[in-house]
Amino acid sequence: MGKFAVFGNPIKHSKSPQIHRQFAEQFSTQIDYQALLAPLDEFEAFTQDFFTNQAGEGANVTLPFKERAFELVDELTERAQLAGAVNTIKKLDDGRLLGDNTDGAGLVADLIRNECKLDGASVLLIGAGGAARGCIYPLFQAGVKDITIANRTQEKAELLAEQFSAYGHVKGIGLDEITNSNYQVVINSTSSSVTGELPNISETVFTQCHLAYDMFYSNEQTSFLKWVGSINPKTKLVDGIGMLIGQAAEAYYLWQGDMPELTPVINTFAKG
Ligand code: ATR
Repeated sequence: MGKFAVFGNPIKHSKSPQIHRQFAEQFSTQIDYQALLAPLDEFEAFTQDFFTNQAGEGANVTLPFKERAFELVDELTERAQLAGAVNTIKKLDDGRLLGDNTDGAGLVADLIRNECKLDGASVLLIGAGGAARGCIYPLFQAGVKDITIANRTQEKAELLAEQFSAYGHVKGIGLDEITNSNYQVVINSTSSSVTGELPNISETVFTQCHLAYDMFYSNEQTSFLKWVGSINPKTKLVDGIGMLIGQAAEAYYLWQGDMPELTPVINTFAKG
């Protein structure tokens, strides 16, 4: 049985073991997938030990270790290179560690699953942190026409846009500068929903919005999605549980070569 894990700190509430076991069931196979608390000061040694001494084949990496995993691995996929962070590690046949980032692909897979038309779409991406960075390249790869990154700290949005300018039409602005209402897709990548806050943006942003996505998820509808729903009842509202399961599916595919179905697993996390 293949040995896999997710490393994080904290890690107790991780849904990844349950998700990966359900994926394995889809292919009538079994995996040993554990949620492991990695020590903050010894993440690197902990990871090396898992792969070298404990026959680990693959690992997911979550907060706060994604940037350190990026530094640690021997080789990077292009999307991990561009994301500047690693959320999936695979031990290669020669023993070296490959770092990938499946977060953006997980988002794109969930958008497509929600019948969101990405080809030719104008996207408003709110936030300019690690979560935003990871999804820009995958969104362009999915055919998005242009991305406007809007952030509370405007300089961060401008810098991020500059770094991705070779991949498509992308610009960075401050939250108060969003005047365009032609966005078909609005994605909230900020951590504002964690505390129930709202990004300080104009309501007119949602006039043409077909789908609003909050990367955050919880048992209740997020504050951001509640707000969008009250502004434009026609907007489809999607939270980040599907992205979580989508990034896990991409990791499973990297390790096992089989792509799991998202919907049956997402349904098991449906809000009661
Ligand atoms: P992550 O890796 O999850 O993206 P991060 O790198 O800490 O986390 O970035 C958090 C993002 O959420 C940033 O874009 C932050 O805006 P600033 O760059 O101005 O700090 C944004 N953010 C957090 N709380 C917010 C709030 N209440 N309103 C608007 N933006 C918020």
